[in-house]
Amino acid sequence: MSRAIQITAYGGPEQLKLAELPVGEPGPGEIRIRHVACGLNFIDVYQRTGLYANPLPLTLGMEGAGIVEAVGEGVTHLRVGDRAAYASQPPGAYCERRVMPAKCVVQLPEGIAFDTAAGMMLKGLTAQYLLNKTRPVEGLEPGDFVLFHAAAGGVGLIACQWAKALGLQLIGTAGSAAKCQLALEHGAAHAIDYSREDFVARVKEITGGKGVKVVYDSVGKDTFEKSLDCLRPFGLMACFGNASGPVPPFYPGNLGPKGSLYLTRQTLFTHIATRESTQKMADDLFGMVLAGKVKIRIDQRYPLAEAATAHRELEARKTTGSTVLVP
Ligand SMILES: NC(=O)c1ccc[n+]([C@@H]2O[C@H](COP(=O)([O-])OP(=O)(O)OC[C@H]3O[C@@H](n4cnc5c(N)ncnc54)[C@H](OP(=O)(O)O)[C@@H]3O)[C@@H](O)[C@H]2O)c1
Repeated sequence: MSRAIQITAYGGPEQLKLAELPVGEPGPGEIRIRHVACGLNFIDVYQRTGLYANPLPLTLGMEGAGIVEAVGEGVTHLRVGDRAAYASQPPGAYCERRVMPAKCVVQLPEGIAFDTAAGMMLKGLTAQYLLNKTRPVEGLEPGDFVLFHAAAGGVGLIACQWAKALGLQLIGTAGSAAKCQLALEHGAAHAIDYSREDFVARVKEITGGKGVKVVYDSVGKDTFEKSLDCLRPFGLMACFGNASGPVPPFYPGNLGPKGSLYLTRQTLFTHIATRESTQKMADDLFGMVLAGKVKIRIDQRYPLAEAATAHRELEARKTTGSTVLVP
């Protein structure tokens, strides 16, 4: 049996209930993992509210780190006793132990602590594919400007550091002066408090009127339209989240007069669809962390049983960096 946080109906944080669930043995292509730490991500909120629908009852959570307890038939890249970490579908990480597909689980290097891993797999692999693979048609060169919303959040602080390592000038937005300061301390070249400042005007000012090559927008509804106005011709609007709500239906004709812009909606799960791509991206992330180029900040820790409090804080924009749940 394993303690787990489940929902039986979509709704607010009050739906998160502690349950005792059977665990069982891994089948072909699966492992059983005992979590040392689990990650909290904004996608958990979308799954809790039903914005992203899943069959109910549902144990939430897409990110974790721990020890491999059992290995199913055909799994060759993991052994019993291995330190391991993952960002993976299906949801189910908010628990002590689970059986799950082995495909997206990788061995965790000795130099990376379990809670660090639980705070970085989903967010760090996202920063990896955004900055390295989600690029404008004209490419990205050192010195280029990009705009990254919610820069003091979990994905945001990793992206600030990674962008700096790539030589990019990341302009970060965040909802307070303290969060802006945090983004700057983590490598953002500029920071805009979008709760007080007009971020379009500030981006124009910073880039000498030219605009940025890419906007990485996970805020969604509140920033989408204005983000388009921050792009230079042929720029890329990379939507990857809905923290403020989903973007309403959009008319592609609007992209023409704004400078023949490109629009994409990215999701990590396309990038980690195979074991090979997951391992390659994870190796890149581990390399950045072990080299000290990307530091993972765990600014909030909660016992697993207090997952509802963690959700409330995340939705109230009270968190910075990564949050872990400790089973
Ligand atoms: N598509 C993908 O592959 C993928 C993968 C990972 C994450 N994501 C997305 O990336 C975003 C960041 O994820 P995360 O887990 O690291 O979360 P996070 O950035 O730590 O938290 C979300 C942040 O969004 C900002 N925000 C703006 N408007 C908001 C609103 N109305 N309500 C709540 N927050 C609001 C807040 O920062 P400020 O107060 O500074 O505005 C808040 O701290 C999320 O939208 C998530 O869904 C997408």
